[in-house]
This record gives sequence, C-alpha cells and structure tokens, in this order.
Amino acid sequence: MKSSLRSLDHPTHVAIIMDGNGRWAQRRGLPRVAGHKAGAATVRQIVRAAPDLGIDVLTLFAFSCDNWQRPRREVDALMRLLERYLQQELPELRSSKVELEVIGRRDRLEPRLLKAVETAEAATAGGNRLRLRLAVDYSARYEIARRLEANATARRRVASPDVDVLIRTSGEQRLSDFLLWESAYAELFFTATLWPDFSASELRSIVGDFAGRDRRFGRIVETPSSSLGERKDQTTAAWLPPIGTDHAVLPTAATHSRTR
Ligand code: FPP
Repeated sequence: MKSSLRSLDHPTHVAIIMDGNGRWAQRRGLPRVAGHKAGAATVRQIVRAAPDLGIDVLTLFAFSCDNWQRPRREVDALMRLLERYLQQELPELRSSKVELEVIGRRDRLEPRLLKAVETAEAATAGGNRLRLRLAVDYSARYEIARRLEANATARRRVASPDVDVLIRTSGEQRLSDFLLWESAYAELFFTATLWPDFSASELRSIVGDFAGRDRRFGRIVETPSSSLGERKDQTTAAWLPPIGTDHAVLPTAATHSRTR
C-alpha cells in the first residue's frame, strides 16, 4: 500500500464503529433512514480522506449480526443503501485505487446485495492506495468461533490485520462485537460526534492524537533509549498464529517471549 503520508506515528489500520445515525435523524425530526443516508455520505468523505492521512486499511462497521433484530423497514433500507453505495461508488473507488473487501457472513445477504459485493470486490481488486473493508452481517465472536472449529474450511482470503486505532462515534463506549481479536492492542478513541457529523478533520485530529499515545504492547520501557528506534506500530503477539491463516503447528514455549 502506498500512502502520501508515511510515518511510524500514523496508524496503518483504522476501524470505525459508525454510531449515531438514528439520533442524528431524530434530532432533526427525520426518519432514522435519513440518518443512515447522511451516514453513507460521511463514509464517502472518510474514504476519500483516509489515504492522505497515511491510513492503509480502513474497516467500517456497517451492519452487525445483531442489527437483523431492528425493524424490517430499517434493515431493508440499510441493505438497499449498502447496495447503492457499492454501485454508485464503484467508479470512484476504482479510479482512486481503493480495494474493497466485505467482511462478515455472506450466507444471509440478499442475492442482489451479494452480487453487488462480488462485483465491487472483483472490480477493485489490486487497488493499492487504500484497503477498504466494510463489515456487513459481522460479528467478531462468530468470526473467531468459525476459525476455531477444527474442520473449518472457509478461511479469509487475506488475513485480518491488527487494528491500530478503533474509533466509536456518538458518545457510546462499547466494542459491540467488532474486531475483538484484531483490536487486542488497538488505541481506543470515543467521540461524542454523531456519525453523520464526523469529518475528515476530526479523523485527522484523532490520527494526530494517536501519534502521542505510548504503545507498549505489554512491555515496559526500561530506559528512554531502549524505546528509541522501535516501531510504534510493530506487530504484537508474534507467538500467535494470525487468525484466518493456515498454521498447523503452534510455536513452542521458547518462542513465547512476551511479557505482561
Ligand atoms: C449505527 O447507528 C449505524 C448503523 C447500524 C448503520 C451504519 C450504516 C451507515 C453509516 C450507512 C451505510 C453504510 C455504508 C458503508 C454505505 P444507529 O442507527 O444505531 O444510531 P443510534 O444509536 O443513534 O440509533
């Protein structure tokens, strides 16, 4: 991935729980769906801004497995919105070299949405400026359980990268079953801004704050000089097999050298 801004102080992988669409609409006396439409416009802005902030991977929580419990009308509207987003944004995603990937269950998506997903993924494959991952019918617990099944055959095509920055909008401070494994060492940012009001400048400000966070990954820094030269974004828990990849043999105790 090539970014115009490359620095070790920049998060490689930013994940966002886009919350607050409903409240945004309610405050304006609008139906909840209007909030989701406004939220889709914010998605467009954030996807445009991400590469120039040094972000290589952007994962957005668009629809959780638990969201099926919402009223049918809202679920249908969200599905249509996702389909329309994939269709309408495709030319721009392609021209701006954004590679799209949808994570989550696919077996419960309507055929027309599934087709839009597959078309968009195929058409954007190889885009090297940003990897955009949309989480649709997604549950982290489900993903982890699926991979722990001894005879699991379906494996993610590309391993899911560790999250550097996890943002949740709307003032709520929960993870809501989003990227639980990948966020083991994520820096958490909670903002009161409702998702439709979230902006590229607020994302820029969070990315700036990230640079000031002291990421120790369970270690202690013995001397000021011992931390110098270390990558701030170095991979954690190297003793663990990356989720979604084929690892028949676990490392021995000798390779398990992390500290708590
Ligand atoms: C949570 O806000 C948001 C969602 C469940 C859906 C997120 C969807 C979008 C941002 C738009 C569609 C996405 C794409 C990628 C085009 P909420 O409805 O729970 O808000 P509330 O907590 O204020 O009720």
